[in-house]
Amino acid sequence: MTDSPHREWNSDVYHRLSAPQVSWGKKVLSRLRLRGDELVLDAGCGTGRLTADLLESLPRGRVIAMDLSENMLRSASEHLARYGCQVRLVACDLLQLPFEGAFDGIVSTAAFHWVLDHERLFANLHRALVPGAWLEAQCGGGPNLERLRERANALGATRPFNHFFAGFREPWLFQDAAGVAECLRRAGFVDVETSIEPAMTILDSAKEYTEFVRNIILQLHLENLPSERLRAEFMAVLQEQAAADDPPFSLDYWRLNLRGRVPE
Ligand SMILES: C[S@@+](CC[C@H](N)C(=O)[O-])C[C@H]1O[C@@H](n2cnc3c(N)ncnc32)[C@H](O)[C@@H]1O
Repeated sequence: MTDSPHREWNSDVYHRLSAPQVSWGKKVLSRLRLRGDELVLDAGCGTGRLTADLLESLPRGRVIAMDLSENMLRSASEHLARYGCQVRLVACDLLQLPFEGAFDGIVSTAAFHWVLDHERLFANLHRALVPGAWLEAQCGGGPNLERLRERANALGATRPFNHFFAGFREPWLFQDAAGVAECLRRAGFVDVETSIEPAMTILDSAKEYTEFVRNIILQLHLENLPSERLRAEFMAVLQEQAAADDPPFSLDYWRLNLRGRVPE
């Protein structure tokens, strides 16, 4: 059972191509001030590339790495095998988080914008933390990927694609810094700090651009199209538009940083 629309990922492709997400995530992890013995939740851990970095900072601690996608968790269990019982993998929807008063901290990178109900998300995260515990996270926000989204939406409204996109809604929630701060406070977090930053990303080639966009950004858009021929046609138009950009094959990413604490 899940209340979220998005379940599966191509985790092999994500593991191989997620250098941008990993570089943003390393900056988020560098903000943590850890003792080294905490119990931390990695919320939306993906294939565990950043979970491994987190575990390196917790020599006497443990991590619960949770994600909705079985594929992601399968890849994560291979990638994190060397950490043994220091890490536990949990399949779960962030909108149905079962933990109460369990964690000293929660880290999350590149995941919250896939969750469409932020009021419930932050209430769940707040409930999962012990008094005095912290949340340090980053996700897409503000005008994230506006250029690509406008192109995909415009293309989806033209023939032959329009027939298959009737009623389709983008699977993301991109909040701004002020909006997400209010949301965190309503959930009970204090010492809330939020900010938004550009993270323009340039991919190496047309091939990498198409594989990245297809598997990491527009996978749910493409699921609407009933044949591989139509999916390839859709991506070919977006690839041609991206080739004409300056610089070519660039993605107009924006990241939303969020942090807060549960009162003592
Ligand atoms: C772009 S990946 C980020 C993975 C990793 N944190 C990183 O930065 O590389 C987003 C992850 O969020 C997970 N996710 C999306 N919605 C979720 C939900 N409602 N509950 C749990 N995980 C979710 C996806 O399955 C995916 O693994």
